[in-house]
Amino acid sequence: MIVAKTIQELKDGYAAACPSAKKGLVPTMGALHEGHLSLISKAKEMCGFVTVSVFVNPTQFNNPEDFKTYPRTLEADCKLLEKAGADMVFAPSAEEIYPERDTRVFDFHGLDRYGEGPMRPGHFNGVAQIVTKLFDLNKPDCAFFGEKDYQQLAILKRIAKDYGYPIEIVPCPILRADDGLALSSRNKLLTPEQRKAAPHIFRTMSSSAEELARSGYSIPADEFISQLVGRINESPELECEYMEAVDAESLQKISDWNSSSSIRLWGAVYAGKVRLIDNIQIK
Ligand code: PAJ
Repeated sequence: MIVAKTIQELKDGYAAACPSAKKGLVPTMGALHEGHLSLISKAKEMCGFVTVSVFVNPTQFNNPEDFKTYPRTLEADCKLLEKAGADMVFAPSAEEIYPERDTRVFDFHGLDRYGEGPMRPGHFNGVAQIVTKLFDLNKPDCAFFGEKDYQQLAILKRIAKDYGYPIEIVPCPILRADDGLALSSRNKLLTPEQRKAAPHIFRTMSSSAEELARSGYSIPADEFISQLVGRINESPELECEYMEAVDAESLQKISDWNSSSSIRLWGAVYAGKVRLIDNIQIK
């Protein structure tokens, strides 16, 4: 496995590798877990050469404390990546990626109007900055993103289309722990009590959604959401920041279940200072 820490090393890595192979890119911020590895195995299925980037991108953090405490475990990540069969790791410094301030501003055509958009101002712009840089540097045929970050995936599909990147954006399903908690690098920051409480988020989202379907979607959307938030907050370790039902394509908020044929339920919940996000399909 090639470990490239500079853009030059990345270029040298590609030049030395089989140039005819289909190239797959899996962008990550490291602190890798099985969720990331599932993207890598999908990439290996579809591509002959797989590069994984590991870069905690400063421009997408709207909270400096979150950036500071984000887990950084490059050595352990490289061991996992070697085992997973990645061909190259790109782990640059911030100076390498941003020799100058990135001032590009992206238009997401309203895909950032709800969900994480208003909660984390500038977040998706930072994600678009780094991912387009990674696209330009790696020129992959396919790039792999998890549905764990459902809104990010939708936004990046749109960016790839709008900016004419000839890259197939491949969505990958959410990988969960046995108790239902969506795997996340931030789970490492949970105390044992918070970790025990955290599966309550997915369980409550799922059971509420089942109840809604059983009712024939007769519970009004705002009542459904406030009931769900109340149920999540019943756990003393958890504090719901937001829950929303959105159209799975346009990502616009739903107020009437009949107005959309495909609906996603998404939200963010604090366990202490750790912010957890999750989403499920509810129609
Ligand atoms: P990060 O949170 O490290 O996630 C990297 C990729 O792994 C994302 O596409 C994310 O959706 C996916 N992923 C994380 N947990 C997952 C899970 N439990 N199941 C399936 N996929 C999962 O998302 C980012 O980094 C950054 O925003 C990035 C795109 C790298 C840009 O900096």
